[in-house]
Amino acid sequence: MATIRTAKLQRATDHEKIPGFLRRRERTLHATMLAHGAAIPAAALIRPKFRLGHRLTVRCQAEPPLSAARPAPLVQNLTISDPDLASRGFVVHRSPAGLDLDELNSVFARVGFPRRRPDKIAKALEHTPTVLWIEDTRSSKPVAFARATGDGVFNAIIWDVVVDPSFQGLGLGKAIMERVVGDLLEMGIVNIALYAEPQVLGFYRPLGFCADPDGIRGMVYSAKNKNKQ
Ligand SMILES: CC(C)(COP(=O)(O)OP(=O)(O)OC[C@H]1O[C@@H](n2cnc3c(N)ncnc32)[C@H](O)[C@@H]1OP(=O)(O)O)[C@@H](O)C(=O)NCCC(=O)NCCS
Repeated sequence: MATIRTAKLQRATDHEKIPGFLRRRERTLHATMLAHGAAIPAAALIRPKFRLGHRLTVRCQAEPPLSAARPAPLVQNLTISDPDLASRGFVVHRSPAGLDLDELNSVFARVGFPRRRPDKIAKALEHTPTVLWIEDTRSSKPVAFARATGDGVFNAIIWDVVVDPSFQGLGLGKAIMERVVGDLLEMGIVNIALYAEPQVLGFYRPLGFCADPDGIRGMVYSAKNKNKQ
């Protein structure tokens, strides 16, 4: 049964809890909406213009889970814990310290990514707040990697998700993605995007990612330049 709920916008940033909604004209949306600190699957009827002190009126399709104190994270539990990974000879690192960029470049090359100049990778990592990689302790080499850039508050984009071909199919891709997403959620970041080639959509979907949410399409300006990498 439909339920009407209202929330008063108290702070200029409140609308950011409801990504995209307040910038739209009156219309019905199907999305996960964050209000009252709970995740509410809602078809939201939004007033066309909002200012501080205005009330946001939401028509929920179902009773919102008021008992939930916090929004349900996309990734609730780790499929494999750090100790379990360690028992299999893998160590998770959460900073670029100790990461051999030439070895990382080799992993990129082995999966078909363009090989990049190490100095540019190093600079990119300097500007990347979330860097995770998994080391194979037998060889001391990186075998899985992912990183996320962003504004540290609202939005993040995940880049360069890669697992060395010799180590694919062991759960390392899922392990590193769960940790990247978990770390971003812990920072309060709820808009997490990535680029996915068609053949890996099925890898990302069970992790909570969907293509074209609410019909929104990504648009990219990409300056093609073979010297760019
Ligand atoms: C995509 C990639 C990161 C997956 O890493 P991985 O370690 O092989 O994946 P995992 O072993 O953790 O697999 C986790 C789950 O995803 C599934 N999966 C893995 N690759 C998949 C794919 N391409 N399509 C659909 N499902 C996939 C696995 O079957 C597994 O399912 P399960 O949990 O039901 O058992 C890895 O194949 C890779 O590096 N590919 C080349 C680089 C790339 O394409 N990166 C993505 C950039 S868009």
